[in-house]
Amino acid sequence: MRIRTIFTIGGASIALLIAIACTSASSPPTHRNVHDSGVRGGAPGAGGPIPGLDAADLAFFTEGQTRFVKVDTVNGDGLGPRFNAEACGQCHAAPATGGTSPALNPQVAIATDQGAKNTVPSFITSNGPVREVRFKKTNGQPDGSVHDLYVITGRSDAPSACAIVQPDFAAQLKANNAIFRIPTPVFGDGFVEAIPDSTISANLAADSATKLAMGIHGHVSRISGSVNLSGNDATITRFGWKAQNKSAQIFAGEAYNVEQGITNELFPNEREDNPACATNNLPEDQTNVTQTSPTQVISDIVAFGLFIERLAPPVPAPLTTASQTRGKELFTQVGCNLCHTPTLTAGKSAIPGISGQPVNAFSDFALHHMGAGLADGITQGGAGPDEFRSAPLWGVGQRLFFLHDGRTNDLLAAILAHRSKGSEANQVIAKFDGLSDADEQAILDYLRTL
Ligand code: HEC
Ligand code: HEC
Repeated sequence: MRIRTIFTIGGASIALLIAIACTSASSPPTHRNVHDSGVRGGAPGAGGPIPGLDAADLAFFTEGQTRFVKVDTVNGDGLGPRFNAEACGQCHAAPATGGTSPALNPQVAIATDQGAKNTVPSFITSNGPVREVRFKKTNGQPDGSVHDLYVITGRSDAPSACAIVQPDFAAQLKANNAIFRIPTPVFGDGFVEAIPDSTISANLAADSATKLAMGIHGHVSRISGSVNLSGNDATITRFGWKAQNKSAQIFAGEAYNVEQGITNELFPNEREDNPACATNNLPEDQTNVTQTSPTQVISDIVAFGLFIERLAPPVPAPLTTASQTRGKELFTQVGCNLCHTPTLTAGKSAIPGISGQPVNAFSDFALHHMGAGLADGITQGGAGPDEFRSAPLWGVGQRLFFLHDGRTNDLLAAILAHRSKGSEANQVIAKFDGLSDADEQAILDYLRTL
């Protein structure tokens, strides 16, 4: 609300409260005259290979990209018995292959593809984000794992005896037991892998006086190794909303099984092994030992990993307005950079074009307590119920949905959501809130160039 003197009677000003409503779709606070201009137009600036790759690397990039977008089937590739989508590229789609949720959510059509009879859950909508679901508890015990949206039952490519049913999502929602995650883009992940642990640790330790004064105490996620066999080397994990995963390769293996139900050499067991539905020999994806060409011998998960590691980082748009330039300064002045570190430097990489290069990811790759408002109640490795990785902001200029659950498509709302009881970002957001409308607008304008 803004208080304006509208008219004067007998010398006394009558103050009227005028609500200035933002027009964007996802109801940001009504007390601001600040607007997210939305996804910037122009070329995506993402989706291509790292410039300067040699022919051999390019061949694997192209092979991996082709498999990444391939729509899988039950009898051909081992899709299901439970799944969230049929191809990596359906979820990692915008603004180019490798990104995140597209404008039109493919999960609506996937529900009934090939004759399946799945019900589309209420939280999956055509113009909403791609989502996966985790349950906080199952049978009263801590859970936290992904429960797939759909089953293969009824599909023309599935065993006809298969009769498993979807989880009762309506009941889970009613019990406040379901949380959502949207896809994180995979652009530039080869650069992220190449940042030495010591660089991440040194960056976390830097500016400690300012961070202490601002209430920011991050810590890096270290997988304890108790039950999660994918992270036993105690090095810093960087990928996913809670920095819970080690590498592009491990994420690819996990995603193939979790999102698509396709077992592989890293994750060889079906998550749903009902014998009427899970009829394939395992793993469903494997090294093609009878092939001779290098790009054909590799398994799908290796192809995915090699593709992801060779995807170039998003290219930002040049700063062309005074507001964008001012926004860049303010980003650091108010302290967004204390978590969203603009640049870290890659160490040595076997992939051409990565060694020693700046990694402009706008993340410290560390976890922070983000307060009750963002907490999802899920623990993953060293990440507790309200902790998240500082979301890398490269490419944010072309992102449609924000925050781990995709709750908003408005940048201002995403920033204000950083503020709630227990959040390390509270003091930074208070500073942001103290800016003039023009300065808040400048930060949004800058973010949309990224
Ligand atoms: C149903 C949608 C969906 C499909 C299909 C999917 N993903 Fe993802 N992907 C996600 C979500 C959601 C996340 C974030 C998960 C989290 O952190 O909890 C993610 C995160 C990732 C990340 C981490 C990126 C980063 O920098 O943090 C990688 C790598 C990845 N996916 C690779 C793949 C590959 C390879 C495939 C195909 C085998 C695939 N994904 C299929 C939804 C999907
Ligand atoms: C204490 C650390 C911290 C500070 C300070 C901070 N952020 Fe964040 N930011 C995060 C974390 C963690 C997330 C992911 C939260 C989630 O998804 O629940 C995030 C998410 C975001 C997102 C959404 C990105 C996406 O892909 O969905 C934007 C935009 C953003 N921050 C901008 C800012 C701006 C602008 C500032 C300064 C005004 C700021 N942040 C200050 C930690 C921080």
